[in-house]
Amino acid sequence: MEAILSRHSVRDFKPGEISMDTLKKLVHAGMSAPSAMHSAPGHFVVVTEREKLDGVAKIHPYANMSLQASAGILVCGEPGKEILKEFFDQNCAAIAENILIAVSDLGLGAVWVGLYPNKSHIENFRNYFQLPAHIVPFTWIPIGHLKSPAKPDNRLDSSRVHYNVW
Ligand SMILES: Cc1cc2nc3c(=O)[nH]c(=O)nc-3n(C[C@H](O)[C@H](O)[C@H](O)COP(=O)(O)O)c2cc1C
Repeated sequence: MEAILSRHSVRDFKPGEISMDTLKKLVHAGMSAPSAMHSAPGHFVVVTEREKLDGVAKIHPYANMSLQASAGILVCGEPGKEILKEFFDQNCAAIAENILIAVSDLGLGAVWVGLYPNKSHIENFRNYFQLPAHIVPFTWIPIGHLKSPAKPDNRLDSSRVHYNVW
């Protein structure tokens, strides 16, 4: 609960390395997401090279935080692996959210940069990361160190909760 309640989008990072061990944990969290009929469509591009991170700011209008991020994970899906095709985006979103919660739990910061289903973003990321044609980029997650500690936020709105019937 603490990781979920203190998760918020972080777009301004403090410099500092993020170890490959930590990045592998984040990918592990992503791969542990639920998926319809356990199709597990996720693929991950883990990015640590400064030049590659910086270049993302040039291919997406709302990804300038990549310039400050220490690392990034491109969450991709493989539609051909889906048993129920219509759940592609839900499966990929569950992966992205798992990563964001794990980032929060590890005391780091990140933000979900939406690509899918925008065709031009998809093409730009596919070209930039040299993805094969059967792989669809879904979300770009720049990751970095927090400038100040995250505080839990209470967004509970009881007026929107309905019990048994609306
Ligand atoms: C589908 C989706 C797309 C998003 N795209 C962007 C984006 O391109 N750039 C960005 O800075 N934030 C993006 N966000 C983050 C939202 O702006 C953020 O989650 C929202 O304002 C709520 O703030 P919080 O994450 O701090 O709770 C996206 C979030 C989602 C779920």
